[in-house]
Amino acid sequence: MFENLQALPEDPILGLMAAFRADTAATKIDLGVGVYKDEHGKTPVLRAVRAAEQAVLADQQTKTYTGPAGNEQFNALMVELVLGSKHPALTSGRVRALQAPGGCGALRLGAELLMVGSHRPTVHVSDPTWANHVPLLSNAGLKLERYPYFEARTGTVKFDAMLERLNTLPAGDVVLLHGCCHNPTGADLSMDQWRKITEVLVQRRLVPYVDIAYQGLGEGIVADAEGARLVAASVPEALIAVSCSKNFGLYRERVGALMVLTESSAQTNAAASHLRKIARGIWSMPPDHGAAIVARILSDEKLSEDWRNEVNAMRERMLTLRRALSAALAKTCGAEMASVIEKQRGMFSTIPVTPEAADALRTQHHIYMTRDGRMNIAGVSLESVDYIAKAIGAVV
Ligand code: LMR
Repeated sequence: MFENLQALPEDPILGLMAAFRADTAATKIDLGVGVYKDEHGKTPVLRAVRAAEQAVLADQQTKTYTGPAGNEQFNALMVELVLGSKHPALTSGRVRALQAPGGCGALRLGAELLMVGSHRPTVHVSDPTWANHVPLLSNAGLKLERYPYFEARTGTVKFDAMLERLNTLPAGDVVLLHGCCHNPTGADLSMDQWRKITEVLVQRRLVPYVDIAYQGLGEGIVADAEGARLVAASVPEALIAVSCSKNFGLYRERVGALMVLTESSAQTNAAASHLRKIARGIWSMPPDHGAAIVARILSDEKLSEDWRNEVNAMRERMLTLRRALSAALAKTCGAEMASVIEKQRGMFSTIPVTPEAADALRTQHHIYMTRDGRMNIAGVSLESVDYIAKAIGAVV
């Protein structure tokens, strides 16, 4: 049965994580997998999460099944967090969320829903996009195409080329957009660019699929959702995949949600029934624990405030590191490389290095970043900034 299976190459991000763990060098630096790290190089359990977790465990009465849609309080709170409590899609009953196992589960759920809609759309993803978007969407059976997005030399969005491509797409095709903190590039759309894209989505009757996995880590909890809010207020149909891995630090608990927006509350209810059926056929029900924690935080004023402060602190720390790295790179690589890092936002930056240079950083300097030049800014520290900048200067 399995005699023909050949061993596959490692996943580009998870393989790097394993290689880093195996490296015994004391000087090794992990700029690979996207997890937040504090000044001690640790990925902490957030204060609000720890407090909420204790409360959840103390109050829990049962471990019985939740259901394919998961925790409905969590679902409602996620819609409010992303869209805001007065969003027209919410007040008109046109949007519903379903809990999913992480942002990945949410993305897959949305992909499966696209497969049961009136036609099988092509999904257009940015070039480049997060490596795992490709299997998550295409393994559901969807065809993927790429639209121009990133100008590597300047580290900015190729906006004219992007808009031009979107303007050629047939009605009913799906456009995957990163809500904020573009992964892998850190090059985000401005609000003016979101407005122009929204006009094209409406005119050409394209369906936006917004992936928002880093809300709060770019410009702010509300500011990072403005693009998604605008799109959801303007189009008849949309999907939004949300992750609580990064902004709640709940990575291994696998907490996320898929939101579906349609033209009427009746259609949204119908779509939600399909989503429950799809979930039932894949994971049956999402794990409860992480969603219960998030629901506890967001429904408690004090915990919520503490969580917001923690998110703001994570964002500010990454901005400080970004600026320090940019200043150090200005000395070792020149102003252009420095400005790439300075302009980008969120957890990642993609710098113009060849895959061979990224390999050399790993093998010669024990600095781990993916071969496309993506680095996790949270993996930098004020102590390691100069070492990293010198090493990059040596390999480029
Ligand atoms: C990343 O991009 O590094 C994270 O989202 C982790 C992952 O699953 O790839």
